[in-house]
Formats: sequence, structure tokens, C-alpha cells
Amino acid sequence: MKKIPLFDLKLSTAAKREVAGVMNSGWLSTGPRVAAFEKKVTSLLKVPHGVAVSSGTAGLQLAMQAIGVGPGREVITTPFTFVATIGAIMALGARPVPADISPDTLNIDPDEVLRKLTPNTGAVLPVDIAGHPADYDPLLSICDQAGTPLIADAAHSIGATYRRRTIPNLADGAVISFYATKNLTCGEGGMVLSRHRPFSDLVRILSRHGLTSIAHERSRSGKWKYDAVRAGCKATLSELHAAVGLGQLSEFKKQQKLRERLAERYLANLADLSDSLEPPIVREHCRHGWHLFIIRLHLSALRIDRNQFIQLMTRRGIECGVHYQPIFELSFYRDHLGLSPQFYPNAAYAGRRVVSLPFYPTLKLVEVDRVCEAVHSILKRHKR
Ligand SMILES: Cc1ncc(COP(=O)(O)O)c(C=O)c1O
Repeated sequence: MKKIPLFDLKLSTAAKREVAGVMNSGWLSTGPRVAAFEKKVTSLLKVPHGVAVSSGTAGLQLAMQAIGVGPGREVITTPFTFVATIGAIMALGARPVPADISPDTLNIDPDEVLRKLTPNTGAVLPVDIAGHPADYDPLLSICDQAGTPLIADAAHSIGATYRRRTIPNLADGAVISFYATKNLTCGEGGMVLSRHRPFSDLVRILSRHGLTSIAHERSRSGKWKYDAVRAGCKATLSELHAAVGLGQLSEFKKQQKLRERLAERYLANLADLSDSLEPPIVREHCRHGWHLFIIRLHLSALRIDRNQFIQLMTRRGIECGVHYQPIFELSFYRDHLGLSPQFYPNAAYAGRRVVSLPFYPTLKLVEVDRVCEAVHSILKRHKR
């Protein structure tokens, strides 16, 4: 029986054509295609400013650096995320302060953010897990009152809206990832998006060694002189990566619709399993970005644990994943930050029971049906 992978990628013909264009252009590093990509992504997300960077992780680091996060400051974030969120905070010498999650969306709980806020908080950094927007109304009101910037880790949520606004239109800055598995990919890459010009300009300068111009601009203008106005790093996007992104953009809206259709089919197929699992929910006022499809097993209703469930799925030729192991379960962060699961009961429970099912635009509806039949059969057989 054909294996159904957790993730698959078919690059568009347009992406291959765009890449060939770069190969013939004689210019591989940041240049006109990067500028065109920034323009198209900002227009798609209806936000004025976007700086393309080499990864979502670099984008998070630069966005936080630009608002003054650094040694001695704290950043309140979710423990239920990929390590990149936490690593970016620590790379700046700041301290991640995890706040527990809401059990339904798996996103940071605003009440917990309020409890963790101190005069030393440099930023609040929610993550839109799986593509479901964080609880932005209360989060923004907490940040407004405290005068604390909110940077959104929107790595998963390029296709999401909250009260009809895209995520970069809500936060002080939002960071998207174009990693290979993401809804829009460049292979590697990211973008820092914002409504605020000075913030965006600073992110751009920091991403290119703190310089006032890049080689392509100097070559085009004939002006060789530049200045360094900050100490920066090198985190610009290459023309090759931008070309992949430009090509993929032509299919983005169609692919989001396909993701929505797949999610609907999963939700319909799994609806009668409510005593064995919880499917993803979509809160009022939210459009889900559908990056991942994460189910939560009701462990107390089953005679198997999450690992055994995944093994049984694998035996049926279906690859599953886990997004995510909470940060306090990873040895470095647990030991270095002195984190303990007992302070994050919702994240700890989610961490034991989440399973990601295969989810990507080329997945067929009949394959979704096959995945769901396997889920049904395993959960029925191993029910308490
Ligand atoms: C929640 C989250 N934040 C940040 C990142 C970092 O993105 P990148 O891989 O582009 O550095 C990822 C990547 O998977 C992610 O899942």
C-alpha cells in the first residue's frame, strides 16, 4: 500500500521558471527578485512594510533586537512551540518566560501572560500554532496597558486572519517563515512584516551588517560609498530563494483553498470520534491558516499512549508527527532555564497527546479518508 507521508512538496512550474531566470541573470544575492517578493507578500497580507530575511528564526531575532530586546530583558512566550521561538530570544541574551497555553487552541493564554508581566518584560511573543491565530484582542490590550510591544511569531499563519485582519496588521511586528514545509516556501527564508516604517527600516539595516546599502544598490546606482550605522548580522534573502517564493506565490491562494477543503474533510470524518480525540477547533472571528492538522488524543479513554498510536498508524503506511514537544521537555532549555512541567499543566498535557496528521495541498481527499479510517480502526480497537 502506498505510504502517505506527513508532508510532501511539489514545486510549481512558475518556481522552476523563476529560478532558471536567476541562474541566467548573473546576480544571486539580494537584488530585484527579493524586492519583488517583498512587494507581493506585503500586498497579499495588506501590510505596508516587509523585510525578506534568510529564515523565520533570523526574522524573530531581528524583530526583537529592533524593539530593544537584549541582555537582562524578559520575553513572555509560549512553551508549546518550535525551539526557534525560544532560541531567538536567548540568542539576544534575553530570558524567555514561558506562559501556559489555552487547551483548546494550544496558543498562549492571555491570563497567564498578565501573570508573568514585570517591568522587565521587553516583549510578548505569541505563536499562532498550526495556523490558528493567538488570542489577539486580550493580548493587545494587555500589551497596550503595559506599554510592551507585541511581536507575533506568525511562522505558521500566513493564511490566517483575526477579525478579518491579517496577523501583521495586528502586531507591532510579525514574522513569517518560508521554510520548506510552510504554506508558502522559498526553501529557506522568512519575512518581518509591520505597519511601522522606522521598525521595518531598522530590521532591514540590522539584516545587512548595519549597512546603509547593499551591493546590488551600489552597483545599480554607481555609488560605491556606504556607511555602517549599527552593528548588524547577515540575514538577507538570496535571489534564488526569492525566485522560489515568487513562483510559489502564484499558487498560494489556490493552495490555501485546498488546505481548507482537506481540513473540512478531516473534521467531517473525525466528528464521531469525540470520545477518543479532540480535532482542531476554529474560534469565532478567526480564519485558520491551516498549516498543520493537529488532533489531541483522549488518553484516559484509550489503552494505548500517543507513541503506540503513531506506531500503529506507521504500520498502516501513514506517517504522523508531533508538533510540539513543549520546551520544558528539551534538556537544554529545561536545565538552563530551570523549567518544570508542573507550572505549565495545559502545555504538559498537550505535549503528551498531540498528533499531527498528513497535511499538504497535494494530499488527496481519498487519502484523507484512508488516514481517518486508520484513526477510527485504531481508536475503536484500543478504547478502554
Ligand atoms: C513556530 C515557529 N517559529 C519559528 C520558526 C522558524 O522558522 P525558520 O525555519 O524559517 O527559521 C518555525 C519553523 O518551523 C516555527 O515552527
